[in-house]
Amino acid sequence: MQRKILITSALPYVSGSIHLGTLLEHIQTDTWVRFQRLIGNHCIYVCGDDAHGTATMLLAEREGIEPEILIESFRQEHVRDFEAFHIEHDNYHTTHSDENRDLSNLIFRKLLENGLIFTQGIEQLYDIERDLFLADRFVTGSCPRCNATDQYGDNCDSCGATYDATELLDPMSTLSDSTPELRESEHYFFDLPKFSRMLDEWTSSGSVQQEVRNKLKEWLEAGLKPWDISRDAPYFGFLIPGTETKYFYVWMDAPIGYMASLQNLANTREDINLEDYWKSDSTAEVHHFIGKDIVNFHALFWPAVLEGAGYRKPTKIHTHGFVTVDGTKMSKSKGTFISASSYVQYLDPQYLRYYYATKLSGTVDDIDINFDDFVARVNSDLIGKVVNIASRCAGFITKHFDSRLSAYLHDEELQNEYTDKKDLIANLYEAGDTSKAVREIMGLADLANQYIAKHEPWKLIKEEGNKEAAHAICSQGINLFRLLILYLKPILPKLAEEAEAFMKINPLYWADLSEPLIDHEISEYKPLLTRMEMDSVKKLVNELKSANVSSNEDNPIALSEISIDDFAKIELKVGKIKNAEAIDGAEKLIRLSLDVGDHERQILAGIKSAYDPKNLVGRLCVVVTNLAPRKMRFGISEGMVLAAGEGEDEIFLLSPDTGAKPGMIVR
Ligand code: 2FM
Ligand code: ZN
Repeated sequence: MQRKILITSALPYVSGSIHLGTLLEHIQTDTWVRFQRLIGNHCIYVCGDDAHGTATMLLAEREGIEPEILIESFRQEHVRDFEAFHIEHDNYHTTHSDENRDLSNLIFRKLLENGLIFTQGIEQLYDIERDLFLADRFVTGSCPRCNATDQYGDNCDSCGATYDATELLDPMSTLSDSTPELRESEHYFFDLPKFSRMLDEWTSSGSVQQEVRNKLKEWLEAGLKPWDISRDAPYFGFLIPGTETKYFYVWMDAPIGYMASLQNLANTREDINLEDYWKSDSTAEVHHFIGKDIVNFHALFWPAVLEGAGYRKPTKIHTHGFVTVDGTKMSKSKGTFISASSYVQYLDPQYLRYYYATKLSGTVDDIDINFDDFVARVNSDLIGKVVNIASRCAGFITKHFDSRLSAYLHDEELQNEYTDKKDLIANLYEAGDTSKAVREIMGLADLANQYIAKHEPWKLIKEEGNKEAAHAICSQGINLFRLLILYLKPILPKLAEEAEAFMKINPLYWADLSEPLIDHEISEYKPLLTRMEMDSVKKLVNELKSANVSSNEDNPIALSEISIDDFAKIELKVGKIKNAEAIDGAEKLIRLSLDVGDHERQILAGIKSAYDPKNLVGRLCVVVTNLAPRKMRFGISEGMVLAAGEGEDEIFLLSPDTGAKPGMIVR
């Protein structure tokens, strides 16, 4: 029976570029979707950008554009990047859409009607300078458990503790470097604990992988807390109905974005109806593909919200691990944080689709990219084993047999060995174990190559009585190649399309497995895939390394151009350091007293790792004098001292030549 399946990949945040990590998930999903279609199931694959949240708001502010303009330009970039990797979403929408607003409001109303929403005042950190409540990742401070400094507002890198941002010791806003204060505000909560039992049952019913179930069980046993689904203005998102200053938290409307993307597609397609997929008794399937960092949102909050609002729950959450390069996190400075758009300038996207397939096994293990292994796998498997079969056989058929395959199969047993694997390979695809599927397929490719090597058609063709045998062997080779292409088609759709054109056949489906190509005309062979060159990998990595020399690891977005008028707003003056002292408890700061021509100013400068305070006294430097004074944890800082450098290890104070006087304007 034909299955009706809705498939999604996690919605990428709007403000970043598509990179090797995002591509892993979308390639994994796209491969699964293509496999389902190949075996005859009906699939709809939707996605879109996750547009809301403080990060979008701040980025738009920094770029000086409306968030709507920003998110549409990112959306177009993302669509282009995915297409380049042959990832075929049926719709790529955005959470900042009418469909998503309507659905979010509707779901909220249903939750409210069902008594699942309540309000409560909570205390949060508030940045007085920026006039906003701080999301966890915009606060740093010392861990309340182990005292490690420079920890973010939700968990400690050093001891692994999780906590509330309000528990951080000496909290600092990363947006303004100022000390935030505690403020109370009313928030909307979803009554998650009411769903504990349902979630326990649902997560043990095969809807998640076993290892994910184990993690969820720990969380369920520790007890669920009500989920805060609101954020205060200013925020970029949807206003909560009936309020003027409360917005839906980005993670509330993000998964609803899956529905909204489907609704947006349904608006243009008569054959698609949202309810068919989402009503509580739907017989269609819903599959979400996600990374292991967002399991709580998809396997706890989301099914509970769906159930609470009267919808069906997902059929399955397919969770994958992170991408690492040579065993470590992708890094900008090492040139291994590779964006989709940089990759395609140097390497064929098919290589990556294939390499990921060899690595994915349906578990949450991290996927490591090792470039030597990557190049070796692609060249030995795809070029050396698969494409090689066609290139070895096709020439003889074109040249000596009028481009026609023989009228019978030379080795039916071998052909059957291939077709007999179809259920095994299908099951592996279904389970997301493409690693094993590829191993099976390459095992078959080995058999074909051995078969050709054993029969040596290049010798037979020269022997008068053996021409026909040569014809049959090469035709058999093409038939085996066709089956390999069919088996690989979910992973390598472009190669499959070009191979189909070469074999002059209609698009292959699983059902075509049993019908060999007999007495059939093929085209002249043209190379279907070129070797992957290590040189291209090196060029890519080197270019990224040098492009990142002057950029900050955490800040992928280049500053935009400013006008001369913008520049003129900055007042720069020569300053003379009158006094400099280390600050107790501040690892990085030196307290400077400076003469900049007017009153003596205090500036707290983050230069302690590079300078001994006593060597600074008497030195000239360049100071931004009209920067608004900032209240920092250790006092007020009245300006900024300019320095060059990459990070804490390299800081070089800028100084004017001797002769310059304190208070002189710098231009
Ligand atoms: O973690 C992320 O990248 C989120 N933008 C994923 C959202 S998935 C869905 F819920 F929208
Ligand atoms: Zn700690």
